[in-house]
Amino acid sequence: MTDPIPTPLAPPPDILRCAYMELVVTDLAASRNFYVDVLGLVVTEEDDDVVYLRSLEEFIHHNLVLRKGPTAAVAAFSYRVRSPEELDRAVAFYTELGCRVERRADGFTRGIGDSVRVTDPLGFPYEFFYDVEHVERLAWRYDLHTPGALVRLDHFNQVTPDVPRAVKYMEDLGFRVTEDIQDAEGTTYAAWMRRKPTVHDTAMTGGDGPRMHHVAFATHEKHNIIAICDKLGALRRSDRIERGPGRHGVSNAFYLYLRDPDGHRVEIYTQDYYTGDPDNPVVTWDVHDNQRRDWWGNPVVPSWYTEASLVLDLDGHPQPVVARTDTSEMAVTIGADGFSYTRPEDSARAEAEADVLPSWKQGEYKLGHQL
Ligand SMILES: [Fe+2]
Repeated sequence: MTDPIPTPLAPPPDILRCAYMELVVTDLAASRNFYVDVLGLVVTEEDDDVVYLRSLEEFIHHNLVLRKGPTAAVAAFSYRVRSPEELDRAVAFYTELGCRVERRADGFTRGIGDSVRVTDPLGFPYEFFYDVEHVERLAWRYDLHTPGALVRLDHFNQVTPDVPRAVKYMEDLGFRVTEDIQDAEGTTYAAWMRRKPTVHDTAMTGGDGPRMHHVAFATHEKHNIIAICDKLGALRRSDRIERGPGRHGVSNAFYLYLRDPDGHRVEIYTQDYYTGDPDNPVVTWDVHDNQRRDWWGNPVVPSWYTEASLVLDLDGHPQPVVARTDTSEMAVTIGADGFSYTRPEDSARAEAEADVLPSWKQGEYKLGHQL
């Protein structure tokens, strides 16, 4: 870790959960079609410039804001806090860190009141709020549910160059690590962190950043995810599917990764596990274990490692992207010197021979091999 972020004396705000993401999209009609007509998110409110969407079990005004703009990017990662007073704590915490802090009594989006937005020490636009307009929770409205119904916002995933630096700051903010990916040399490639008692509210993925890797919505069951794949096929829009469906090693969840019309990545996710006890065990994965990202050992496409969305500062300008200097997960698992194994006892041989997987089952894409 270089240049660690100091721990503020001011206590952090008590965060409940990830609540919504504000996305800037370049073609509002195309994005509305993707999120509403294809994925079935519910429109709470909309006008010519903004669409406010929610999942079927949500009772707050929105989980996703689509805002028309010139550059596709993320304008806010927004968290709900436990009480209105927590906003004072957020202001004190980030002011002590020297961050830019902006508070609006009437909120930054419709349906939400007093809110604090900051550019955090990692360069991400973070928001905190308590006051919110309640809307109908559609959990019992099965007449509205589609076969691929999205029922909750589950998590964010952020790309940042120095994962341990990010984790230390997030722990100061009150998050707990549930799982991570490391190697024997002590490099950390990614970490999953939670406030609500699931595997995560956000994850830090090592790479050039600050960028947004994905936003994830939950379904009830695995078959709902299969139904989304079938629908995309039927619509001749399978090119929206980037990776999956599959079973994650990390988080044990069933997953699917899609790309929206601007390339923003959306994960559909279901059936991770309870993490709410104070002594919940941290799960650490070896970066060379080819079941960490996909439990069935299916390859991770290179775009999944390299591509991500820009994030904005509080004036709406894209944040400059800083390159990762630690080795990348793709390089150590895919490149000419990369290797993976399926069984831990094969680890040493995999490193020596750089490949112990059968040629037809390279646990990851080998550049120049299958591409
Ligand atoms: Fe995810």
